[in-house]
Amino acid sequence: MSKVISMFFSGTGTTKKVVTSIGKSISKELKKEYEIIDFTLPHVREDEVHIRKDEILIIGVPVYAGRVPNVLLDYLSKIKGEGALCVPIVLYGNRNFDDALVELSDICTGNGFSVIAAAGFIGEHSFSRILAKGRPDQKDMETVEEFSKDIVSKIKSSSFDMIDQIRGTRPYRKYYRPVNPQGDFVDIRRVKPLTNDKCNDCKICVDLCPMGSINYEDVSKFDSICIKCGACEKGCPEGAKYYSDEDYLRHKIELEIEFQARKEPELFL
Ligand SMILES: Cc1cc2nc3c(=O)[nH]c(=O)nc-3n(C[C@H](O)[C@H](O)[C@H](O)COP(=O)(O)O)c2cc1C
Ligand code: SF4
Ligand code: SF4
Repeated sequence: MSKVISMFFSGTGTTKKVVTSIGKSISKELKKEYEIIDFTLPHVREDEVHIRKDEILIIGVPVYAGRVPNVLLDYLSKIKGEGALCVPIVLYGNRNFDDALVELSDICTGNGFSVIAAAGFIGEHSFSRILAKGRPDQKDMETVEEFSKDIVSKIKSSSFDMIDQIRGTRPYRKYYRPVNPQGDFVDIRRVKPLTNDKCNDCKICVDLCPMGSINYEDVSKFDSICIKCGACEKGCPEGAKYYSDEDYLRHKIELEIEFQARKEPELFL
């Protein structure tokens, strides 16, 4: 029997919440089996994925710097579609999704999927506990339900070729970069979270890190890069992970001030 499959990368769980909810609703309505492929952790991203023509894929990633996270591009190119129907979803932290949704949609099309709908939803910002706090919230989840119903109607009517123009620009704009008070670009790519003395060495952060970067023997050390996904900082039960980098902290506060006004999900069908 054909399946509905939800696939996602989700450091702090907001993408997971939306993508699994859409997948579950559609599978229930269409009385199809349901499967989840969570590719947040690095070992999952080693294998190619082949989605069959009669399966339906709901795929989601968070927006990083206005684009699809570049660390995922290799893996995303290995998800093959064979003409299967697909719904790309992005979650963003109330600033903007810029070109991330057109980029994800183009990746899916390039891999042989037929994109029948797409959406940008809002999730609590990975850097912050107050920017888009608690989102996706109940109102967002009601929109998720309506969107899922609309996708089902579209599948039942077989009118797959109509999709509104997804908001975004081609060629894609450059990765969004923060600026300092003088207006010069700052580079926060090398910034990593620190560990304070509240740490009880439980190793939870080691298991959470999507880059497999936190050293098992000494959790304050790094074996590889940090993408500042928020998984260790928000997932540490002791509140032991924190940032001290001035540029990072200034950027976080700027975002919290400048993008306070609530944004709403954007649906393309
Ligand atoms: C490195 C990085 C860059 C980000 N860039 C953006 C951005 O350009 N625009 C935006 O609105 N949110 C941005 N965010 C916030 C995330 O897109 C947002 O919090 C998302 O809901 C996180 O998804 P997750 O909970 O599935 O990890 C960024 C987050 C990180 C870690
Ligand atoms: S999750 Fe927190 S308390 Fe546990 S090892 Fe990591 S930093 Fe330490
Ligand atoms: S070390 Fe960096 S990449 Fe790993 S979980 Fe923490 S913020 Fe994410």
